[in-house]
Amino acid sequence: MIKGIGVDITEIARVKEMMENHDQFIDRILTPAEKKQCEAFADKRKVEYLAARFSAKESFSKAYGTGIGKEVSFQDLSVIDNELGKPIVTTDKVTSPVHISISHTEDLVFTQIIIEE
Ligand SMILES: CC(C)(COP(=O)(O)OP(=O)(O)OC[C@H]1O[C@@H](n2cnc3c(N)ncnc32)[C@H](O)[C@@H]1OP(=O)(O)O)[C@@H](O)C(=O)NCCC(=O)NCCS
Repeated sequence: MIKGIGVDITEIARVKEMMENHDQFIDRILTPAEKKQCEAFADKRKVEYLAARFSAKESFSKAYGTGIGKEVSFQDLSVIDNELGKPIVTTDKVTSPVHISISHTEDLVFTQIIIEE
């Protein structure tokens, strides 16, 4: 059974601008584990990675049903690529499995989250 689905489209340039203009932006969006994985990437991939996490967390907040705010924050889930590059979600917000898929164009990142019942 599915408890919730959420999708999001994020403009990569907007995330780049936030990253460059706000010192705390990366720490607000990425968990320590994500930040560690992100630091290994070169500049362009770094922004894509950050934009995908931003988008994933918005998607999760929609699947959860509350949006980003008091109930769900950007620190409430980690999306870490495994050794094959597949993103894996970990969160304390739900005990059931959470699935994610991510897709990029040059300008946009799209994410989908499914929370199982
Ligand atoms: C729900 C949220 C994720 C919406 O994101 P958004 O980027 O403003 O807007 P999107 O176009 O991606 O999504 C809008 C849709 O979300 C859906 N939505 C709104 N509230 C929702 C909720 N509680 N649960 C599930 N879906 C919801 C609606 O379908 C809405 O479409 P509509 O406007 O046609 O009704 C909202 O929590 C949010 O804006 N968070 C902002 C997070 C933030 O802090 N940004 C600043 C950057 S540091």
